[in-house]
Amino acid sequence: MEYLKNQHSSIEEEILFLKKKRNAVILSHFYQDEEIQDIADFIGDSLDLSKKAQATNADVIVFCGVKFMAEVAKILSPNKTVILPDIRAGCSLEESCKADDFIDFKKHHPDHIVLSYINCSAEIKALSDIIVTSSNAAKIIESLPKKQKIIFAPDKHLGSYLNKITKREMLLWNGTCIVHETFSEKELIKLKIRNEGAEVIAHPECPENILNRSDFIGSTSALLKYISSSKNKKFIVATEPHIIHQMKKNEPTKTFMVAPGNDGSCSCSNCPYMELNTLEKLRDCLASLSPQINIDRELILKAKKPLNEMLKLS
Ligand code: 13P
Ligand code: SF4
Repeated sequence: MEYLKNQHSSIEEEILFLKKKRNAVILSHFYQDEEIQDIADFIGDSLDLSKKAQATNADVIVFCGVKFMAEVAKILSPNKTVILPDIRAGCSLEESCKADDFIDFKKHHPDHIVLSYINCSAEIKALSDIIVTSSNAAKIIESLPKKQKIIFAPDKHLGSYLNKITKREMLLWNGTCIVHETFSEKELIKLKIRNEGAEVIAHPECPENILNRSDFIGSTSALLKYISSSKNKKFIVATEPHIIHQMKKNEPTKTFMVAPGNDGSCSCSNCPYMELNTLEKLRDCLASLSPQINIDRELILKAKKPLNEMLKLS
């Protein structure tokens, strides 16, 4: 990679040079580091990123997010090369739901259909009937007959929030997001008192006690839309704090505070998996075209069905 260093003065220039050379597109989730968001061709929530991955003409998709997101890109565009800056970028929700345990769980509820949150492995997707994201889940659930019995996996907090707003009794898998679980209700109340008039906005992966204290609940892209449509000037943000970078860009005159954890600080709410991706690793993966996402053809076909079902119903 020495040749790169001689020709280009910054890491950003190296990335742009390699991107052109590889005919690559850089997709980034809102939870990535600021400098990754700034160099990406497209930033979005899980649903928007899936659609972009399916529609792109690029030969290479560089997925700046976590592994299950890059897997979705590969499943929807199997002939493209999909790379992830750090292959260890997992997700606590994905880890909570292993295929063997899930097969067993399904066996005990044969009259249920399976709705899985996109934050799960390709294997779990292949065992599901429909995939949902936080931006389309309620709409998809409401399109199903009221009597239809449903298993919802793997996020129990998102599942119970969806049960509440759609008036269903979906059977929930016991998974959680380690990031959204760390917010403290007590510290949140204290921050709200200190900032009179500030609105609390939360991702539905948060536990119920945090959602109950929130003025608006939505997916990452819904939160971004909300801060622009609200007349309010101050917001307490109960989701992964890197999204505040886009919030500040979209609404530079408004104030955004990170919802606090138990010690009253905010650093505990950074996603440790998303943080594994860095600008250096982004450059290196474009140079070496690795680590690549490779999924067995048969698994791709099985996992594609519930994803296509989601895209049809979204
Ligand atoms: P969305 O961007 O779809 O709201 O998902 C949030 C998330 O936790 C991704 O890991
Ligand atoms: Fe998974 Fe939570 Fe990180 Fe999203 S924020 S990738 S749900 S661990």
